[in-house]
Amino acid sequence: MRAKDIRAKAGEEPITMLTAYDAPTAEMIDDAGVDVILVGDSVGNTQLGYESTLPVTVDEMASHTAAVARATEEAFVLADMPFLSYGASLDTAVENCGRMLKEAKADGVKLESGPHTVELTDRLTELGIPVQAHLGLTPQQEKETGLFRQGTDAESAEEILDLALAHEEAGAFSLVLEHVPANLAGEVTDRLSIPTIGIGAGSACDGQVLVVDEVIGRSEDTAPFSQAWGDVRGEMERAIDGYLHDVESGEFPADEHSHHESDLDDVY
Ligand code: KIV
Repeated sequence: MRAKDIRAKAGEEPITMLTAYDAPTAEMIDDAGVDVILVGDSVGNTQLGYESTLPVTVDEMASHTAAVARATEEAFVLADMPFLSYGASLDTAVENCGRMLKEAKADGVKLESGPHTVELTDRLTELGIPVQAHLGLTPQQEKETGLFRQGTDAESAEEILDLALAHEEAGAFSLVLEHVPANLAGEVTDRLSIPTIGIGAGSACDGQVLVVDEVIGRSEDTAPFSQAWGDVRGEMERAIDGYLHDVESGEFPADEHSHHESDLDDVY
């Protein structure tokens, strides 16, 4: 899938996007037919044990993105650029984003966006690096804004709309809208020709994105705008308890799991 295929879906058919951080999960998501796999910087708090996304490094993102890309045949693989890997200098930002395509084999990058990413989006798209913008709640700004719903007053709603238009103009092929009121997401969607992909932004967006751990029921908590369609955490707990029980009680390994001298020829 290419950026232009995603762009062409605006207003046509719902775009599906899910995060993945490892090869086996990416393979399952790709086989299921999801359009976009986002290697989110949420890898920090969902997989790496950080309290937030802020400590995630470019090397960590490149490693997880490469694992996902190796397992993906059809979906568009997006690398999320981590905190301070862009924004300070244009050259360093271009280099870091370029690594995701050259080294990790991503198809594009996502930038948590603001006034500081308009010029960068323009430069990256000029160089052939597809960019997905991200407005509304941008967790990398959590020290500034907190992790709250954004665009709830007229001034901030207008700012989001203006930035959305500026990023479209700069060449972004799509836009994530996170945790904004549904009517604002609807207005942004109407005003843009590139697709909007919502998370906690209502149903008017052209597509939806969620964190895979929440969708499969592996995370301890689920955001109020998310849903678990499975109980992977419960399954893991049951399997680990079962293993513990069977080892402690001596039921595992049973005879069928063991090799005897007389079997050696079969085994080796
Ligand atoms: O890192 C992430 O998972 C994200 C999504 C929530 C959009 O940015």
